[in-house]
Amino acid sequence: MRAGGQPGGGVHPALGNAQKDNSDLSNRAPLLGVPADCRGAVVASDLHPGRVPSFQAVQHRPADADAEPDPGYEIRRLGGERELAAALALRYEVFCLEQGVPAHEERDGRDHSGLHLVAVMDGAIVATCRLVFVGQTVQFSRLAVKRSARRRGIASALLRATDREARAHGSRHILLHAQTYARSLYEQAGYEPRGREFVEAGIEHIAMEKLL
Ligand SMILES: CC(C)(COP(=O)(O)OP(=O)(O)OC[C@H]1O[C@@H](n2cnc3c(N)ncnc32)[C@H](O)[C@@H]1OP(=O)(O)O)[C@@H](O)C(=O)NCCC(=O)NCCS
Repeated sequence: MRAGGQPGGGVHPALGNAQKDNSDLSNRAPLLGVPADCRGAVVASDLHPGRVPSFQAVQHRPADADAEPDPGYEIRRLGGERELAAALALRYEVFCLEQGVPAHEERDGRDHSGLHLVAVMDGAIVATCRLVFVGQTVQFSRLAVKRSARRRGIASALLRATDREARAHGSRHILLHAQTYARSLYEQAGYEPRGREFVEAGIEHIAMEKLL
C-alpha cells in the first residue's frame, strides 16, 4: 500500500501500552524483543542513554566511500541541535503533512535517546532516520526522505550506515516496522518479515528484522 495513512488508527497488538507509557518496561517483548516502528510510534526499553549520544559532530563516512562515485549526498550522524531541528522538520513534512500521521505520534519523546543519521545534500538535510539501542537490539525508526530526493538510493544508504552503527555498537539485530508499500526497500537491505501485517496510525505495516 502506498503510504497515505490517516490520523489515529490502531496500535500493533504486540505493543500494548508501550506508546502511552514508556516508563513501564516490564512486559513488552512480544514479538522480537521490542518492536519499533519505521516512524517510531513506539519504543519501550531498558535504554542505556549514556552509552549512545543522540548526535555527534563527528562525520560518519561510509566504509565504501572511497570505492564509489560521489552520489551527491553525504551520510553521517546528526551534527547538533540545529540539525536535529531540521531533521524533525523534515519528519513533520513527510509523516504528518504527507502521510497524515498525528504530530503527537510522530514525536514520541525519544529523540534525545536515539542516534540520528542524516543525508545531507548541498548543505541541507534531505533524509533522516533514528536508531535506539536496547540491549543487543537496534530499534530503527523515523526513516524519511524528502520527496524531491527520493529514488536515488538515499534510504538504502542510510540502512547501510545503520548496519555499520549497529555492528560498531555490538548489536545483534535490527528491528523495524515497515510500511508495507516500502517492504522491498528493506528486503533489498537484508531484512525479513516477521508476523502478519497490521495497521498502525492508519498505515499498513509489517514487522521486519535483520540479523547482524
Ligand atoms: C520509503 C522511502 C524512505 C524510500 O526512500 P528512497 O531514498 O527513495 O529509497 P531508495 O532510493 O533507497 O529505494 C531503494 C529501493 O526501495 C524500493 N522503494 C523505494 N521507494 C519505494 C516506493 N515508493 N514504492 C515501492 N518501492 C520503493 C525500491 O525497490 C527501490 O529500488 P529502485 O529505486 O531501484 O526501484 C521514501 O519514499 C520516504 O521517505 N517515504 C515517506 C516516508 C516513509 O514511508 N518512510 C518509510 C516508512 S517504513
